[in-house]
Amino acid sequence: MNEELIKSALSKVVYPGFQKDIVSFGFVDKIESDGSNVKVELTITSSAKEVEEELRRGIDLELSKIGAEKVEIKINKPAIPRETSSRGKNIAPQIKNFVMVSSGKGGVGKSTTSVNLAVALAMQGKKVGLLDADVYGPNIPRMLGVEDVRPEVIGNRVKPITTHGLEMISMGSLMEKGQALLWRGSLIIKAIQQFLTDIMWSDLDVLVIDMPPGTGDAQLSLAQSVPVTAGITVTTPQTVALDDAERGLAMFQKLHIPIAGIVENMSGFICPETGKEYDIFGKGTAEELAKKFGTFVLAEIPIDPSIRVGGDNGSPVVYSNPDSEIAKRYMKAVEKLWEEIEEINKQGIVSNEAIQPTSEVSACSTSHGGHSCGCSS
Ligand SMILES: Nc1ncnc2c1ncn2[C@@H]1O[C@H](COP(=O)(O)OP(=O)(O)OP(=O)(O)O)[C@@H](O)[C@H]1O
Ligand SMILES: [Mg+2]
Repeated sequence: MNEELIKSALSKVVYPGFQKDIVSFGFVDKIESDGSNVKVELTITSSAKEVEEELRRGIDLELSKIGAEKVEIKINKPAIPRETSSRGKNIAPQIKNFVMVSSGKGGVGKSTTSVNLAVALAMQGKKVGLLDADVYGPNIPRMLGVEDVRPEVIGNRVKPITTHGLEMISMGSLMEKGQALLWRGSLIIKAIQQFLTDIMWSDLDVLVIDMPPGTGDAQLSLAQSVPVTAGITVTTPQTVALDDAERGLAMFQKLHIPIAGIVENMSGFICPETGKEYDIFGKGTAEELAKKFGTFVLAEIPIDPSIRVGGDNGSPVVYSNPDSEIAKRYMKAVEKLWEEIEEINKQGIVSNEAIQPTSEVSACSTSHGGHSCGCSS
């Protein structure tokens, strides 16, 4: 079979996530043919298993159209980044670090915090993804001003939306506006897993995950699917909220997630005229809780109309007003967060081995005829 014919067939195979094909990208190293047998070798830049699988499918399809019968494909790719030392199940191995933003109760500013921390990380040069895992009330698209943007679908996978220097996906971007879904537990688990496997995240330094309020199925499912590097709890300073924050931190412990710290939100008010800080709900109360859990207060973020307006207008305050006191506090918070992520990875304590579903263990205990498989039976 003619090499030019093969090459023109391969130039119909688009590289997943891009508009360019594998020949234009220069990924095809070698083409060999012997009658209707074809051998193709390529070198790609992604280590993701899904990218390789999609390419194999595309190449097989295009070559079969020109009459190739036996197709052998060799794909060289970089090793999965192993800068982290996490162990256990990871269904999105191209992402180096996962940060779960959680809170014991709703309305404390979880999404606001997730957005500003993620944008701040991106502004500091990190490759960032932001996953809005709040399937009940997805509002990250509005907070980033991409409410009407629909993500591109490639095959049966979806490209995240790029905005504010990061990649983002939300159930709000996938559903029609105003559409409400009733979620059963099993559906939530499936949705969380698909957010990780069926979204074409790049090789990210960090994925920030805005969780639904509370400590339920979504948190457990996420922690079982990927080794979460660090958990952040958002709280307001009232003692009632602190009780919930404590539950949030206890959940991280139960899920074996290293705690990166607490963001005390709506913590005081800075008078715009005088710069004087006023205590409204109480302030600094998260400090005690942090001590109790051996962690830190990453930031005290005051109540400020610019935060709400930024959220409503789709322009987070760290981005639209980077010189403001509040932006500086978010920036400082992510510097501290990053130091902690590096420290956590150095210690090699990230693992979700201990929280895998017990059904795997019991299935295992019935099938292993006496040899050691690592389960407790
Ligand atoms: N520091 C702040 N100053 C002023 N307004 C704020 C502040 N933090 C959050 N808000 C506003 O409070 C409201 C709730 O915040 P947000 O949506 O981030 O909370 P949430 O914890 O994600 O809520 P839910 O549990 O419903 O997902 C939003 O309108 C947001 O703009
Ligand atoms: Mg929210």
